[in-house]
Amino acid sequence: MARHLITSALPYINGIKHLGNMVGSMLPADVYSRYLRQRGHDVLYICATDEHGTPAELAAKEQGLPVAEFCAQAHDAQKAVYDGFALAFDYFGRSSSPQNREITQHFARRLNENGFIEERAIRQVYSPTDGRFLPDRYVEGTCPHCGYDKARGDQCENCTRVLDPTDLINPRSAISGSTDLEVRETKHLFLLQSKLQHEVEEWVAAHEEEWPQLASSIARKWLTEGLHDRAITRDLDWGIPVPADTWPELAAEGKVFYVWFDAPIEYIGATKEWSDADPENRNWKSWWYESDLGENPVRYTEFMAKDNVPFHTVMFPATQLGIREPWKKVDYVKAFNWLTYYGGKFSTSQKRGVFTDQALDILPADYWRYFLIANAPESDDSSFTWEHFTATVNKDLADTLGNFVNRVLSFSKKRFGDEVPAGKAAGAPETKLGEEIAGLLAEYETQMESLQFRKAAAALRALWSAGNSYLEEKAPWLEIKTDPEAAALTLRTAMNLIHLYAVVSEPFIPSSAAAMRAAFSLTSDTATWVSADEARALTAVPAGTPFTVPPVLFAKLTDEDLETYKERFGGDQA
Ligand code: MF3
Ligand code: ZN
Repeated sequence: MARHLITSALPYINGIKHLGNMVGSMLPADVYSRYLRQRGHDVLYICATDEHGTPAELAAKEQGLPVAEFCAQAHDAQKAVYDGFALAFDYFGRSSSPQNREITQHFARRLNENGFIEERAIRQVYSPTDGRFLPDRYVEGTCPHCGYDKARGDQCENCTRVLDPTDLINPRSAISGSTDLEVRETKHLFLLQSKLQHEVEEWVAAHEEEWPQLASSIARKWLTEGLHDRAITRDLDWGIPVPADTWPELAAEGKVFYVWFDAPIEYIGATKEWSDADPENRNWKSWWYESDLGENPVRYTEFMAKDNVPFHTVMFPATQLGIREPWKKVDYVKAFNWLTYYGGKFSTSQKRGVFTDQALDILPADYWRYFLIANAPESDDSSFTWEHFTATVNKDLADTLGNFVNRVLSFSKKRFGDEVPAGKAAGAPETKLGEEIAGLLAEYETQMESLQFRKAAAALRALWSAGNSYLEEKAPWLEIKTDPEAAALTLRTAMNLIHLYAVVSEPFIPSSAAAMRAAFSLTSDTATWVSADEARALTAVPAGTPFTVPPVLFAKLTDEDLETYKERFGGDQA
């Protein structure tokens, strides 16, 4: 049994995320974690809210709350949605935690001791009206590249170019709107990434072959452009303070670390939050510190959308390499393309698309979990449309899986009562079915283990379909007329399929899986996974097992539902 450390990109604190965020990070990480746990591995799935930076300060201001209070509330609100999606984190932390502060400051000190940090005086936008410097998104203005007049100091949303606040034409303060801005000199800490270029290159070279092409090509591109030294502090009220023991002057000026410096460190910070919550039984360093890993090494897998790849494959590894302490680095980077909304951008700031809280208002999590993973933007961008969503729910979940479960159990109950009937001994069709199921199960396992989520979903769907074909072929509703014992065999076999589906569908649709499993009162149901032999035999649920018919697992969505969704969310006019 292996140890698996799993993290998904930390969602920004500034608002409830849309489905596009969910499918590219937390959801696949959860599916993978659940699968590995079921296979008996020791899994630690860590996530947290990313709470620093100008977006947090600006969102707090918009709501008229002190930043700390805003973040505490927003963290709980996001956590509630993730609970609703049944994301089974081992810990969902906060990058503003004392643990992250401590580790981030430690990292900065070590980088400094090793000669990778330098103080430099730079020119920053200052607003006399606001009485402060205006970093990143605190300045808005016209993009010098495309002329978009609402470009933000860190990036132009229109042409996506990365900007510096001093690049903007006609700059104005995002706080007061003041255009009375000046450029002042101030000191900041710079991380000397250029000195680490060579080491990062070597490290990437040793890992990229295993990574999916999307991740390695982005890492390569950044390395080719060359690693630049970059400012890792900001003039903000909210953030991890520069440690006064090392930089008394900057600390006195109130400088804090830049959000992208402390955010990835929170993967470690949140693990310590987890460990501190139960120190007798948990040891954060045994997951993160090479010399503390012990006999059983840790495999570390990260999940993220493609815009996060440079930070995880180049920048954070550079930080980790520069520390000269053996912190665990990522083994596998699972990167995703974009999920679009009718071919256009989901946008948090422009409130376009479907937000995760709204999704749960409409339908239970399993509908979304299945659809999103089955259509994950793995090899390319993929588009969310309500037409595709409703058609998929109806076909795969309602017809293929839900209807099978209901049909089999209600028919058996009606004809044979409340216990699984015995019937004849298995014959040729059952042998053929068992072979097919074992083959598909192996395919499903292979795809899951190589993190090919769409293909894994296809294999799962094929498992569900195989049950339907078997049932159509055997037609127990006809068998019952001439040979009730034959019908009983068919139903018992089909009920065993339901139990198998309950086990193997759990990573995708955990609550429906639990309902399927609970249909049978097995004396002991400890099955965490199905072996190939069990898949072939289909006898885990023996004759005589009491069962109940669960309520309909998946409601069929009507044309009227479709129209309602499109009207509410804008559909193709988006
Ligand atoms: N908050 C960032 C985003 O939503 C992701 C941060 S990932 C981390 O794009 F590793 F830096 F935390
Ligand atoms: Zn632009």
